[in-house]
Amino acid sequence: MFILNAKEPKELAAYLYQQKWLQDGETIVSVSKPGEGNMNCVLRIETATRSFIIKQSRGYVEKYPQVLAPAKRVLTEGAFYKKIAIANKVQQIMPTLLGVDAVNNLIALEDLGNSNDYTVLYDLKEKIQEKELLQLVNYLNGLHQSFQKTVVDDELANTEMRALNYEHLFEYPFKVENGCDLDLVQAGLQAIAMPYKKDSEIKVKMERLGSLYLSKGNYLLHGDYYPGSWLKTTEGIKVIDPEFCFYGLREFDMGVLLAHLYLTQHPESTIAFVAENYHSFDELNTTILNGFIGVEIMRRIIGLAQLPLKMDLKTKADLLTFARELILK
Ligand SMILES: Nc1ncnc2c1ncn2[C@@H]1O[C@H](COP(=O)(O)OP(=O)(O)OP(=O)(O)O)[C@@H](O)[C@H]1O
Ligand SMILES: [Mg+2]
Repeated sequence: MFILNAKEPKELAAYLYQQKWLQDGETIVSVSKPGEGNMNCVLRIETATRSFIIKQSRGYVEKYPQVLAPAKRVLTEGAFYKKIAIANKVQQIMPTLLGVDAVNNLIALEDLGNSNDYTVLYDLKEKIQEKELLQLVNYLNGLHQSFQKTVVDDELANTEMRALNYEHLFEYPFKVENGCDLDLVQAGLQAIAMPYKKDSEIKVKMERLGSLYLSKGNYLLHGDYYPGSWLKTTEGIKVIDPEFCFYGLREFDMGVLLAHLYLTQHPESTIAFVAENYHSFDELNTTILNGFIGVEIMRRIIGLAQLPLKMDLKTKADLLTFARELILK
């Protein structure tokens, strides 16, 4: 098994020649980390004339090797990129897939250039522009429309990744003992979270929403449609990292998007703008959509997958109240 390691450039070059991801005569000028990530090993390879990205998944989380994760997850990501390549509207907004190595769990992707993601929104200093939001909504329009299935099947089921996400969305945040001391995130957060962990009404809704998340659906979803998956490039917004993709309910992608607009304190007019520009908004099930919005808000405040959110406790408490209302509506 080839293990990607930026500190072993010779072995890396030999591997890339063998894969034919580097041509004869091409030499590596630099190997670097293109940006922050937790789950996988992602590197930028530069030669004298071009650059590309390689991404390897392993049986654990790159940043926390003690945490196990599905080893082949990047192959599902590769399969997603392969699938969307036929839909121009979607492909234009994502990197092109350059290669897949199913033996070593690696993919090669077009380099979108040095770019920041939109996690700066969590500083709460700036808001997303309408023009940018329109690109983000149009990506969902293209993705959800272009790959609609009439009969559900097992394509891109991504079962293991969904099981992992399920725990983080619907279980851990609502457990009293989950190994996470929220006071280490922010003093006082644990006490604010406690009522939600003991909330039997929420537990009932979590079971229902959780099984909807795990159910098969007709629409191809990105599965992790939040600011960390959006890159600000010179050619507009690009979307990356569909490792949590699956065929499911559109309400999930839309719910995650709207949750992060709430988490980054966008006004109701921004939410309305999304609703107006998403082609099938009226077809969505409001109860399910609100539930997914609420769950995503909650798990990002009281769950394990924390964000660099610069928000005071009172505002977090208010958002939790709001999220609970959405879930119980
Ligand atoms: N095709 C690309 N072009 C340019 N930069 C990229 C590309 N793919 C990834 N990056 C950069 O590398 C970072 C990590 O990539 P990615 O999000 O795919 O990894 P990950 O391990 O799945 O991350 P996470 O733990 O957030 O899920 C991105 O935030 C981005 O900055
Ligand atoms: Mg990822």
